[in-house]
Amino acid sequence: MIITIDGPAGSGKSSVAELLSKKLNYIHFNSGSLYRASTAFLIENDFDIRNMSTYSKIPHLCFTVNYENGIQKVYINGKDYTNQLRDNAISILAPKVSSNKNIRKVIDDFQKIFTRKHNCVIDGRDIGSFVFPDADIKFYLDCDIDERARRRLNEEKMKNPNITFADIKQQILQRDEFDKNKKIAPLIIPKDAIIINSTDLTIEQVVDKMLLYINAVN
Ligand code: DC
Repeated sequence: MIITIDGPAGSGKSSVAELLSKKLNYIHFNSGSLYRASTAFLIENDFDIRNMSTYSKIPHLCFTVNYENGIQKVYINGKDYTNQLRDNAISILAPKVSSNKNIRKVIDDFQKIFTRKHNCVIDGRDIGSFVFPDADIKFYLDCDIDERARRRLNEEKMKNPNITFADIKQQILQRDEFDKNKKIAPLIIPKDAIIINSTDLTIEQVVDKMLLYINAVN
């Protein structure tokens, strides 16, 4: 069984997917972490990320995902990149990496193989639209831009006390623009997706709504 959750940056996809997967006893597969780990790998190996979308030859990327104490760990070619995934520099550069079609292909193939063996809740930007258009249930999580910026500010300010609401809002707007206008796999509402707006809802309330749909289908 595959349940997909797509939506823009800061809409709460990951937190919702995490809680939903716990309630269903499914695996939470965070697809963005593969793009983030690839970004960390490419930085470490001195690739010019800003021109990434035009690279036709990409390095060998052998992904391993496993779960240690419930935490998704991402390895590339045997090295663990989990601790770097949420760094702000990675957040800024990951969209460039995600616009490379060869990297997308490697990640898409990996996701398809991984999910054959597990019941999964997968969150991302193209999961219900391009990677798993035939998923059992597809959700699209939306949220007002100011609320998304507030949520991200709360996460970021521990790591970066000087960051402002305006900075974060600007970064999110740029990412929305980029994700929605990408040539390959842009962020769209997948066909047949159930749209939930999380602006005034807690994570628990969003998950309760999702469970109502899931139980109605099963
Ligand atoms: O959701 P996130 O912020 O962790 O995603 C990191 C980057 O990867 C972001 O630029 C969007 C991209 N991404 C994607 O293109 N397709 C996905 N399924 C997930 C993420």
